Amino acid sequence: MPSKRLVSGMRCTGSLHLGHYEGTLKNWVRLQDEYECYFFCAVWHAFTDRLKIEKLPEYIDEMVEDYLSVGIDPNKAVIFRQSAMPQHAELSTILSMFTPLGWLERCPTFKDEVRDEESHERVSLGKLQYPVLMTADVAVYKAEAVPVGRDQLPHLELSREILRRFNSNYTEIFPEPKEILSECPLLLGIDNRKMSKSYNNSIELRETEESLKAKIHTMITDPSRVRRNDTGNPDVCTVFSYHKIYSPQRIDEIAAGCRSASIGCRDCKGILFQSINSILEVFRAKRAEIAKTPGLVKDVLAAGEKKASIVAESTLCEVRKAMGFTV
Ligand code: TRP
Ligand code: SF4
Repeated sequence: MPSKRLVSGMRCTGSLHLGHYEGTLKNWVRLQDEYECYFFCAVWHAFTDRLKIEKLPEYIDEMVEDYLSVGIDPNKAVIFRQSAMPQHAELSTILSMFTPLGWLERCPTFKDEVRDEESHERVSLGKLQYPVLMTADVAVYKAEAVPVGRDQLPHLELSREILRRFNSNYTEIFPEPKEILSECPLLLGIDNRKMSKSYNNSIELRETEESLKAKIHTMITDPSRVRRNDTGNPDVCTVFSYHKIYSPQRIDEIAAGCRSASIGCRDCKGILFQSINSILEVFRAKRAEIAKTPGLVKDVLAAGEKKASIVAESTLCEVRKAMGFTV
């Protein structure tokens, strides 16, 4: 069992897409052999900018299924829901006392949203506190490593400062967590904008063959390549940017074929379909296997939450004692 602890979570806002896989999950799968991993569904964080998530139970279920289908192994990693762990909330309350308001107000993810009077009335306290809760998520397991995307670096920087402040006022309970940045290839949506569910331009991990084919079919190609005989420029084509990631062994052949018009966009998309489908096929097979054990997700979460709470509770005991809550 690896000894260094690592924590990471994803906001629970629906089923996951290829961007999540390339940017986050692929890394998680690799890291579970090197660290003692705690992977969770950030259920509370999902509410920082909405009041209701109608299908939350399904989202949680799908998210855990997605974790398992890409190869997160519940025998290696601890998988759980943030919302099942009251210790995260307790530690977050405590750490909020160690966090000057200015640190949170200056945080780019908050600052960019609160510009005027109107946004002040709209943006929640939860949004302001987002980095504090995130700090608690990590610190409650005394994690040393946190795999995150570049956008999360300001949060992690704050985490280190908050924990340093705690440690220097009490005892060295918390290690300073370091980021593990994912070297994520820039995966754009099928319309060449950032891949996001809200733009409706994502390729979902649970895409069927048919739906995948249909989505690839709608992808934007070189707009100046109108007829089959026109030559194309792969460098301006979204399909080609996907080939760079998913068909690296055929990349020269495809680029040359496009430039000389020896392959058409339809064939080119067919190759891309094969490349991506061969990855999703593995996930589908795993999902089919999961479906054979009814209640598996529930069991995985129950086991994960039991393990997580032992570690979390032990950390909180230290904190309560250090601060003098226990008599
Ligand atoms: N803020 C992270 C994101 O949006 C999700 C998250 C919540 C997280 N708590 C965390 C990631 C703790 C790492 C560690 O991506
Ligand atoms: Fe894009 Fe392929 Fe068509 Fe060239 S042949 S424009 S790379 S889809």
